[in-house]
Amino acid sequence: MIADDTLTRLARLHGTPLYVYDLDEIEARVRTLRTALPGARLRYAVKANPAGAVLSRLAELGVGAEAITVGEIARAVRSGIPAADVLVGGPGQGPDLRALARRLAVGHVSLDGAGQWDAWRDAAPAGTRFLVRVNPEFDPRTHEHLATGAVGSKFGLPLPAATALAERLDAEGRLAGFHVHAGSMIEDAAVHREILRTVAPLFDRFPTARTFDLGGGFAVPSFDLGTFARTVRPWVAERELELIVEPGRWLVADAGILLTRVLWWKDGTPGHWICDAGMAQLLRPALYGAEHPIRVVGGGSAEAGSGDVDGPLCENADRLGRNRTLSAGPGDLLAVERSGAYGMAMASSYASDLRPAEVVVQDGRDRLTRLRETPEDLWRLEDAAVTHR
Ligand code: LLP
Repeated sequence: MIADDTLTRLARLHGTPLYVYDLDEIEARVRTLRTALPGARLRYAVKANPAGAVLSRLAELGVGAEAITVGEIARAVRSGIPAADVLVGGPGQGPDLRALARRLAVGHVSLDGAGQWDAWRDAAPAGTRFLVRVNPEFDPRTHEHLATGAVGSKFGLPLPAATALAERLDAEGRLAGFHVHAGSMIEDAAVHREILRTVAPLFDRFPTARTFDLGGGFAVPSFDLGTFARTVRPWVAERELELIVEPGRWLVADAGILLTRVLWWKDGTPGHWICDAGMAQLLRPALYGAEHPIRVVGGGSAEAGSGDVDGPLCENADRLGRNRTLSAGPGDLLAVERSGAYGMAMASSYASDLRPAEVVVQDGRDRLTRLRETPEDLWRLEDAAVTHR
């Protein structure tokens, strides 16, 4: 929890929009997870927040990484996460990614299909362990964009195909286990019970499969970690399996705040605020209708009013929140909370808007860890291409 006077000072010092991350909150989450799931291997889903400062802290805490692109693998390793603690997955796994993962000899690869195994097998590093990703083919009861385990999704293999691929890997002595990531923002504990029911026959059939990667997807704020642990721990213990979990959001969402300043209110009346941040800095409200808590930092300068909290760009979806009640006026600072996951990670330079700076707070001290972009950053690679010709 970062105090309002700190947020006010950081906004003055570094300008807005600004992302602020509380590294102590992330550390507390790691400890909570380890207490709930002793012995489980934590593989942080880098896509949630790839900031170097966040990854370095997770590396210090001994957390590994789940990575799906060349950039994520490179960032994880550069931040001090040992390659052996990197788990590579995803529906792509193209030649560049495979080459890097091979060179580094990453710890695990989760295979999304038989074709991927064909591509990996001839040069699979001896130390790399392969998992078969299973599509449980049921409704994980989340937003359609976030339901990776639904029928027809591009992720993983339905049971018969997963079994066939596992047979091939097993015959070659390369089957380490199975992986399921049914979706993101999963709230309902019944989803994990269904996943266990789905994969049980696979572990029964393949006794050499000793690792179970249950993915991530723990909803914020409402994931019931206690029920999850009580469901999963005995199941894994009974089968003497090694458990991997890959949370992204749950570790970082509540540790991040997007600070934005109110530029105007429409028609000069309280309500309907135009801020200096919107979909280019935080895409989730536009893309998923996500509702992030928004509050005025340090007490507002206006009477309470109700309306939309909009961004500065020329697009209706450029919005941070709908129908909010705030006592904010022009110049006031707003904190868009729960923005530590998939916030800066999905920020863009749409409309040539400049990506915000990032600050981390740790042990009561704050430090700037990424500069605000400048217009020169927008054309740096274009200029470089000219000299490259
Ligand atoms: N493992 C795999 C294989 C994944 O695909 C994902 C997320 C995770 C773990 C981590 O999921 P988490 O614990 O963060 O829910 N952009 C969306 C979220 C997309 C998640 C994609 N996969 C959002 O802003 O809500």
